[in-house]
Amino acid sequence: MRVGYVQFNPVFGARQINFKKVQKLLKNVQADLLVLPELFATGYTFTSKQESHDLAEETGEETTIFLQNLAKDTGAVIVAGLPLKKQDKVYNAAIIVNDHEVIGMYEKIHLFNKEKLWFSPGDEGFKVFDIRPWKLGVMICWDWIFPESSRTLALMGADLIAHPTNLVLPYCQKAMTTRCIENHIFAITANRYGSEARGDDKFEFGGQSQITNPWGEVLSSGPKTGDSVDVIEIDPALSRDKKLTPLNDLLTDRREKYYRIS
Ligand code: ACM
Repeated sequence: MRVGYVQFNPVFGARQINFKKVQKLLKNVQADLLVLPELFATGYTFTSKQESHDLAEETGEETTIFLQNLAKDTGAVIVAGLPLKKQDKVYNAAIIVNDHEVIGMYEKIHLFNKEKLWFSPGDEGFKVFDIRPWKLGVMICWDWIFPESSRTLALMGADLIAHPTNLVLPYCQKAMTTRCIENHIFAITANRYGSEARGDDKFEFGGQSQITNPWGEVLSSGPKTGDSVDVIEIDPALSRDKKLTPLNDLLTDRREKYYRIS
């Protein structure tokens, strides 16, 4: 399976410019799975709930159509972050598409800092998508700090995790090596780079998008700043044997009754 990330520097509120940047970066790229950053087409630093609602889209609108065209051009399933409107709520979500259908949506469960002011927390749980013959789990950025996120996806049968991010703290890439070891799973973390100053906030996003294997080895690492696309070959079947020793299975050895505080 050929999997990759797209790292770039979105311009806030400039959807068409961001579409063009991504399209240019993916010219002549072919893959099976491509992961784009969190909120890739809108930017990250919202200053009001009104703004997040104004920039949000429903499934099937402009960003979905753009991503489906991208899926057509690259042959890939695409996972990308967007503000998603559903009834009267807006979620920090990821959409999963191929060239002919919307495979699904994931709404970020663990919101970071002021995201709590602009978005509703996802309330549909983690999801694993069938992208035959593989099972694809999705989590978004700050979900990484909760080991329960990747653990839940592994328990649900994910072979690999697509992880769109807008990272502002320096710990995630290192942590993802542990997340991948403890679940014996692949992960593709697609981060943005650059700075964004709006309202009272100024964020520096750290790039270093990363593909990590089930042994915690970093197979690909993007630069701290600068556009970067990398597509590498992995065998997701290598994630399926959860035995680290003949007598230790990462999932079935769990002793859940001792993980509860009653
Ligand atoms: C983050 O969750 N975007 C830090």
